[in-house]
Amino acid sequence: MVNVAVIGTGYVGLVTGACLAEAGHRVVCADRDEVKIGRLRTGVVPIYEPGLEELVRANAEAGRLRFASDAAEAVASSDVVLFAVGTPPLANGDVDTGPLFEAVAEAAAHTRTPKLFAIKSTVPVGTARKAERLVARALPRPVKVDVVSNPEFLREGSAIRDTFEADRIVIGCADPEAGERLAGLYEPFGRPVQMTDRESAELIKYAANAFLAVKISFINEVANVCEKVGADIRSVARGIGADRRIGPHFLNAGIGYGGSCFPKDTKAQLRIAENVEYDFQILRAAVHVNAMQRIRFANAVERTLGGSLAGKRVAVLGLAFKPHTDDVRDAPAIDIIRLLHDKGADVRAYDPVATANARRHLPDVELFDEPYGAIAGADAIVVTTEWPQVAALDLDRVKRLMTAPVVLDGRRAFEPEAMRARGFRYVGVGIPA
Ligand code: UGA
Repeated sequence: MVNVAVIGTGYVGLVTGACLAEAGHRVVCADRDEVKIGRLRTGVVPIYEPGLEELVRANAEAGRLRFASDAAEAVASSDVVLFAVGTPPLANGDVDTGPLFEAVAEAAAHTRTPKLFAIKSTVPVGTARKAERLVARALPRPVKVDVVSNPEFLREGSAIRDTFEADRIVIGCADPEAGERLAGLYEPFGRPVQMTDRESAELIKYAANAFLAVKISFINEVANVCEKVGADIRSVARGIGADRRIGPHFLNAGIGYGGSCFPKDTKAQLRIAENVEYDFQILRAAVHVNAMQRIRFANAVERTLGGSLAGKRVAVLGLAFKPHTDDVRDAPAIDIIRLLHDKGADVRAYDPVATANARRHLPDVELFDEPYGAIAGADAIVVTTEWPQVAALDLDRVKRLMTAPVVLDGRRAFEPEAMRARGFRYVGVGIPA
């Protein structure tokens, strides 16, 4: 059992804290936001993540997980401090490591016994080394504090499983003994650990997200070619994915990636490369292709509805950037709705959990928490998130509610053949007409 403090109760901090508590450690999650901490203390989790509220409540009740708005007290009572502070982009595109360094300096200022500081936030290469120098300056007395890099690879919507079943745990350290101590924290998970230097660990995180973004943009471009030559992206993806060197995952073509990670991290890595005078061409192309994919899809809606959207009613199903989350940050749906709206369409949108978050991005669009209200009177359905609720729609009812049975599926929520057999005109990305 290790006493752990987690600084920052966003996705990464909260999920990691709850999972470490579940593994038997004594965890305190700290955040400056007192309102958030107050809610967490009563068992209210501020994000939608399947299973997280139950995990938080169970571990809080068992006395293994608590919440603090005072980082000083959290740090003082811990041997390991995990930093999971957000690293948003600055206006000039650089990564804002300011809040992270502030948190590190504050923790160091309250450190009187030896500790291990682990940076989980996604940060530019060299951040852990800089944090180490900062710690040395901020310590009130000379005790040993190791600063290690420990990037996080969990996905929203499956964050708990991704933590317990991580493909690998990456630990970047200067002193192997510090690395081993951090590995001990994760031992109950029984996952493979990769020890490396701090710079490599920091780059692994960006490179992993960049590779996945490239993989998605690549398959989307192949899908675009499929449409031109009459091939089927489902077969092509299966055929290439069967090669173990390529692998079957992340080959779902559609309207591209969104969320709080890929868009931010790809742009950050481009900026980081630019700052060291390197032109990361493949990544730049992947980012461009991803933006174009949204525009291409909105154009396909316009084409399918006869070349003009003026006066047409379009039901957009899905606002979240992917299913099982209420996160709409950089969601393809938001851009696509804006494009359709600008082309003159009367857009009504549905999402089972994300309408509250989407409202401020889409003040002029009517949003629904249930699908049929959005579908009533629609000239076309546009699927932007593959929610199970979308696949489970009563299609006879859908057909009766629409002026014509037209579906443009940006996420392959439906089986094209089944939809066509039921009398729908089905348009998919990379699927022959
Ligand atoms: C992503 C990574 O998958 C995590 O490993 C990483 O830890 C995380 O970013 C992060 O840096 O914090 P996440 O953004 O939660 O996780 O979501 P993903 O499941 O990776 O999906 C991202 C986007 O790609 C979604 O919009 C999804 O619809 C899209 N996608 C994914 C595709 O368009 N096609 C695919 O084949 C797969």
